Amino acid sequence: MATETLIPSSANRVLRVGILGFGTVGSGAYRMLKDNRDAIQRKVGFGMEVVRIGIRDIGKPRDLPSDLFTDDLESIVDDPSIDVILELIGGVDPAGRLVERALNNGKNVVTANKELMAKEGSRLVHLAKSKGLDLHYEAAVGGGIPIVQPLKHQLAGNDVLKMMGILNGTTNYILTKMSRENADFGDVLAEAQAKGYAESDPTNDIDGFDTTYKISILASIAFGKQVPVAGVYREGIRSITKEDIRYADVLGYVIKLLGIVEPLSADRLLVRVHPTLIPKGHQLASVSDVYNALWIHGDFVGDLMFSGRGAGSDPTASAVIGDLIDVGRNVAIGGQGSAIPWDMGIETEPIESLETEYYLRLRVKDKPKVLGQLAMIFGEFDVSLAAMEMRVVDAVAELGEIVFLTHKCNEGNFRKALAEVGKSDIVDRVCNWIRVEG
Ligand code: HSE
Repeated sequence: MATETLIPSSANRVLRVGILGFGTVGSGAYRMLKDNRDAIQRKVGFGMEVVRIGIRDIGKPRDLPSDLFTDDLESIVDDPSIDVILELIGGVDPAGRLVERALNNGKNVVTANKELMAKEGSRLVHLAKSKGLDLHYEAAVGGGIPIVQPLKHQLAGNDVLKMMGILNGTTNYILTKMSRENADFGDVLAEAQAKGYAESDPTNDIDGFDTTYKISILASIAFGKQVPVAGVYREGIRSITKEDIRYADVLGYVIKLLGIVEPLSADRLLVRVHPTLIPKGHQLASVSDVYNALWIHGDFVGDLMFSGRGAGSDPTASAVIGDLIDVGRNVAIGGQGSAIPWDMGIETEPIESLETEYYLRLRVKDKPKVLGQLAMIFGEFDVSLAAMEMRVVDAVAELGEIVFLTHKCNEGNFRKALAEVGKSDIVDRVCNWIRVEG
């Protein structure tokens, strides 16, 4: 670690930066440092210089001097002249090994790596803390939206009573487009892939893994304990149809993929990722396209929402460079790192303990007493029906589609009721069911 104190406004010292990874985020961070160099120097009082960039393919042509690049990433984290490492590779390996080695070598680290922080965050933050170093990860959640630092600092005095986030741009784009164009999931996904908005293997986004990593990090910060990825209930958006979106609209709701965390007691959390109906009047409902947002309800601050661009080169660079400046300011005053440890492990509750409302779409026999029989079955499991939409699907076959909203009930009970309903001869098919919030 640099021992020389950086004195603000002294022009004779710069923060020496090594970048690992030069894809979308790495190249954005480099460009921001270059384009805003003077403004940053004026504001923060010292310069920053990228001295080395680690990449996988050294043969790829680039517009920068070739001696900046190396494919020996270890040599960057071992370079004694480098003060800070920007880890912008992604994934757990080799990124985790390199971050650990950089910290052990006394270097501060800034990372945008959500998977690494979700899986190894507690251990790495502890390591940084024990070395008196910084490990910052603002860009790991919500791209350019400042979420991590406010949760760690300005909001730390609150008991967080609930957080709900639209934390994945790809799925928000797909759901928004399905809603606007009354389009099927498969068609919108294929178009998003063709335009490069969605990955050719879209699993990480549309099956909710990306949101799971992000909500697990946010929950770990808000509650000071590592929430294991395996403790997060996860569902993606593949099952959502344009019919569900249309019924939700008629009932006054939009469908979003949300990451949700709420404490059920002092040491038990329910953390979940799934498509959710939220009322059109909720602040999150108007967050569309690739935008992300995090809504927080704290006991003193009340309701709060952060929103903005959750991905992309420029917004993510903004978060990375903000963290880098934070490190630089700390080094400048000769301070220790400000890593805030997450103690290991918190109990997470199974999804069956959830109490919420449900949207349910059924294909039923369109005959007398069907509604009464359905209400009876649900009633036996303490599930009370609150609202309904119905249409005839096939008059000849006497089939209709019914959509219910339930009152708040227990998920375990709702699932049992659903199993009974599914067996009933008045029900042709359980088409879909979705949790409701807000
Ligand atoms: N693939 C993510 C998204 C961006 O679609 O939001 C990085 O987390």
